Amino acid sequence: MTAEVPVRPARTPEEVRAFYDAHRTVRHYRTREDGTPLPLPEEHLDAMLHAAQRAPTDATAQLYSLIRLSDPGVRARVAELTTNAHVASASEAFVVCLDVRRVGRVLEVAGHAPGHWPAIAVHFGIGDAVMAGQNLLTAAEMLGYQGCWIGGVLNGLGGLLDLLELPAGVLPFAALTVGIPAEQPPLRPRVPRPLIVHQDRYRDPSDEDLRHATEVMNPIAARAGKPGDWARLLRMYFGQGGGMEAREPGLVAALKRQGLWAGEELGQ
Ligand SMILES: Cc1cc2nc3c(=O)[nH]c(=O)nc-3n(C[C@H](O)[C@H](O)[C@H](O)COP(=O)(O)O)c2cc1C
Repeated sequence: MTAEVPVRPARTPEEVRAFYDAHRTVRHYRTREDGTPLPLPEEHLDAMLHAAQRAPTDATAQLYSLIRLSDPGVRARVAELTTNAHVASASEAFVVCLDVRRVGRVLEVAGHAPGHWPAIAVHFGIGDAVMAGQNLLTAAEMLGYQGCWIGGVLNGLGGLLDLLELPAGVLPFAALTVGIPAEQPPLRPRVPRPLIVHQDRYRDPSDEDLRHATEVMNPIAARAGKPGDWARLLRMYFGQGGGMEAREPGLVAALKRQGLWAGEELGQ
């Protein structure tokens, strides 16, 4: 029996696969001769921002804000704080933030008291920020650009809160750069689908499944002709003494500073 297709698809499955296979994270962009960002046509930027705002959003709230970085000094400082130099040279750069401040202000302006829901704020705020940012990125890719999400905001959160004057209720999730690629990265692997897509209930992968997934992923860690070791790369990020442990206190401090901390204090 053939599956029912409700409407004539606008794209074939092959075209959809090809679009997503064309995605590459790109960190080097074409610039003007003096190394400054190459501006995008206004209508391209407008389409990307339109796509961002068309993202679905829980409870109609749109709990996110995009800080578009245009001032070269601000770009340079954000590049430094995030330890991602291409923030300064990309055609466009944004800091994608969760933002629960605006909805609180809408309530206040309408004469209603906002509730207290810091955990919900993080949950839905990050969801909204990601959906809007990824819509922006896919729109950019449809227009022929490539980009890079930058979780490196966690390397300098306090500095970003100051620099971008982010009030309580607003917290960077990541930065996002877009431009014309000046490098051709390879298609980077993903773990095998059975580890990601579960059927009706969660299934823990076996050790053998995980070893196989690691082999599939190894090329993502290859550098300068040296074969890659994905588990070693993950250790640097997520292992004991790795980068994520180093980032944890800064994130907790920023969550507290922005009024988004729902946890109990230790020892209370
Ligand atoms: C939330 C998020 C944060 C990321 N942070 C960084 C970053 O700080 N710097 C960077 O160069 N790449 C960053 N990346 C890009 C990933 O390294 C990249 O998506 C991954 O290696 C897979 O490569 P691909 O996108 O080309 O398939 C980030 C991606 C995501 C989704």
